[in-house]
Formats: sequence, C-alpha cells, structure tokens
Amino acid sequence: MYPSLEGKVVVITGAATGLGRAMAVRFGAEKAKVVINYFNEEQEVQAIIDEVEKAGGSATAIQGDVTKEEDVKRMIDHAVKTFGSLDVMVNNAGIENEVPSEDLSLDDWNKVISTNLTGQFLGSREALDYMLENDIKGSIINMSSVHQKIPWPHFVHYAASKGGVKLLTETLALEFAPHGIRVNCIAPGAIDTPINAEKFEDPELKKGVIELIPMGYIGKPEEIASCAVWLASSEASYVTGLTLFADGGMTQYPGFQAGKG
Ligand code: BGC
Repeated sequence: MYPSLEGKVVVITGAATGLGRAMAVRFGAEKAKVVINYFNEEQEVQAIIDEVEKAGGSATAIQGDVTKEEDVKRMIDHAVKTFGSLDVMVNNAGIENEVPSEDLSLDDWNKVISTNLTGQFLGSREALDYMLENDIKGSIINMSSVHQKIPWPHFVHYAASKGGVKLLTETLALEFAPHGIRVNCIAPGAIDTPINAEKFEDPELKKGVIELIPMGYIGKPEEIASCAVWLASSEASYVTGLTLFADGGMTQYPGFQAGKG
C-alpha cells in the first residue's frame, strides 16, 4: 500500500474496462479519489463506482471522448469541481485493430493515432496546465505497450501510436522535471483484458501468444495496476521519463530463451 496516495485525485481515461478499470479499483484501494472516464459504457459505470468505493476510495464518472479537446477539458474540470484538485492523470484509453498495412485505410489510421496518441497528448497537456497553474507536483502516467519497442505487423498504426507515446512521455518528463511534475509510461505486454478477449478465446492463438512470454502466462490487469500506483506514489519520487515494461519478459527476445544464437 502507498499511504501517499490517500486522498489524491486521480483521473483515468478509458476506465470502464480492462486496465483502466483495474487501475481505478487499485487507486480506490489506496484511498484515492478516482475520476472514471468512460466512452460509451453507461451501463457499466455505476458498478465500477461501487467497486472503487468498496475498495476504499471515492469515485465519480464522466463520459468523454479523449480525441476531443473540449471533452478532455471537461474531464479535468469535473475532477476539480468534484474532488477539488488533480494530482494524477492516467492516460489509458486506447484501441487497436488488425489490418494488413497495404489495406489500412486513412480512417483506421487516424482513429488509432487520435485515440492512442493525440488523446494522451490532450490528457497530458490539460493536466500539466492545471498542475502548473496550481503548483501541484503531480504525476502523469501514459499507457504505452511493448509495441513501443517491438514492431507489430498488421498493427502499424497501433505500434506507431505507442512509439509516439514513448517520446511524448520522455519529452514531457524533461520539460516538466524542473516543476517537480513526473511523467512516466507503462508498457504492458499481453494482458487478460477485453481488448484481447477474442484472441484468447482461440486456444491456438492464445498458445502462440504465451510462447512469446518468457514467464509463460498472460498477465493480469492487477499486475499493471500495481505498476501504476507505484509510479504515482511518493515511492517513485525520483522517477521520471521511465517506460516501465510489465510484460513477463516479452521484450527480452524470447526467441533466444533456449540459449540459441
Ligand atoms: C496489445 C495486445 C497484445 C500485446 C502483446 C498489447 O499492447 O494491446 O493486444 O497482445 O500488446 O503483443
């Protein structure tokens, strides 16, 4: 547990499912005040609020599209109006779809880049602006992926967006370090979340993914949430510009595991 997170105001984008939801609950367990941003999961929202509160935190929810400037501004305003501040911004909302690159439409490219990269820029910018103005030594956490490093055929838009998240994070970390604002990202590997549900329902596809993971299992959302609370806490007070890979070793060249080469 991280006592420094008690009472802190945390905005999490895309918090209605998957990693966002797991992070919301974990921040709740740290007694934080959590702003759950969702896109179109109205039906789910009350259950998530209840879960965060049951875990020990406070929660509120706000609909919003991370690709829209006015929606992102509304999220931050909602956090400040409801809970009085903003201490931690988790830019988590993300999408992916598989398309061979020669067939990838500009529309699909734009959708992924604007959600995964522009959305994180907007969330970071609005949070930084608030933190600077209010002299808050806050923390920004961007959600990257092992594919900020590992090329991913048929997902070129996704890989490009995550490569962008890496340098977005590092550049902002450098720019805002003098203000005591830390900017880091988490790069998960294959995690058991709805984004992967279809793939993991197919035993062959699942086996193929597990073969790429030296630790031999698909990660749990809670294993990513525990990275987020550490990064946001004062225990990581000297950490900025970091990409925290949480991937069971996926980025450590699993093909070489048997000592070949
Ligand atoms: C993607 C998953 C994928 C994993 C490893 C993640 O960023 O969201 O769909 O399984 O990377 O390839």
